[in-house]
Amino acid sequence: MRKVEIMRDNKVVIAPSILSANFACLGEQVKLAEEAGADAIHIDVMDGHFVPNITFGPDIVAALKKVTSLPLDVHLMIDNPERYLAIYAKAGADYLTVHLETCPHIQRVLEEIRELKMKVGISLNPGTSLTLLEEIWPYIDLLLIMTVNPGFGGQKFIKSMLNKIAKANQIIQERKLNIRLSVDGGINQETIPWVLERGVDWLVIGSYIFKSQDITQTIKEIKKQCLKI
Ligand code: DX5
Ligand code: ZN
Repeated sequence: MRKVEIMRDNKVVIAPSILSANFACLGEQVKLAEEAGADAIHIDVMDGHFVPNITFGPDIVAALKKVTSLPLDVHLMIDNPERYLAIYAKAGADYLTVHLETCPHIQRVLEEIRELKMKVGISLNPGTSLTLLEEIWPYIDLLLIMTVNPGFGGQKFIKSMLNKIAKANQIIQERKLNIRLSVDGGINQETIPWVLERGVDWLVIGSYIFKSQDITQTIKEIKKQCLKI
């Protein structure tokens, strides 16, 4: 039986996104992030169809599983994700997030992720309404609100997403749902307070960490910033 790491509820998870890491020494960069205090590793899988960019596949997930003990937060930005659920489970994904926009049979997909003993994540593009989650809230462990249009690192945070984040948090609180609220895209020193104040407890951060002068120092500063809010 696979062991899925459960995050402590009272803590903001910092999940560096390796999309902006130095791919020539990916394992070392992941280890560095772990040693600096990261809580999960975010892996962006892109297929060149659902999003314009192409990145990693399951072999990279399996390789990283061997170099870190942190939970792997795999973000599938691919069409027909249902074809790959078991493959990512086998590769070692702990959290598997699919995009609502890619799944006409979303309820079945979410159930399958759970049956495969992974935590169930769902992501919404900036243009996708939260109201579309109405029938599926009970199936979700992690809600990933995209704060940029997915595909690339280093894009600007879309400020109008703050309202969506606050609404999602309100639903989670009012209905007492056990769901982690995550954001992805344009997260940095300036935007971290905006999202934490609105209930986000899982930060996906790519370029702000991996393009910084000192990865260790940047992660430590983010952790401090999270404690203050
Ligand atoms: C974008 C990816 C993100 C990306 C974020 O489509 O899903 O995870 O790495 O990068 P930053 O933090 O640079 O906006
Ligand atoms: Zn991502």
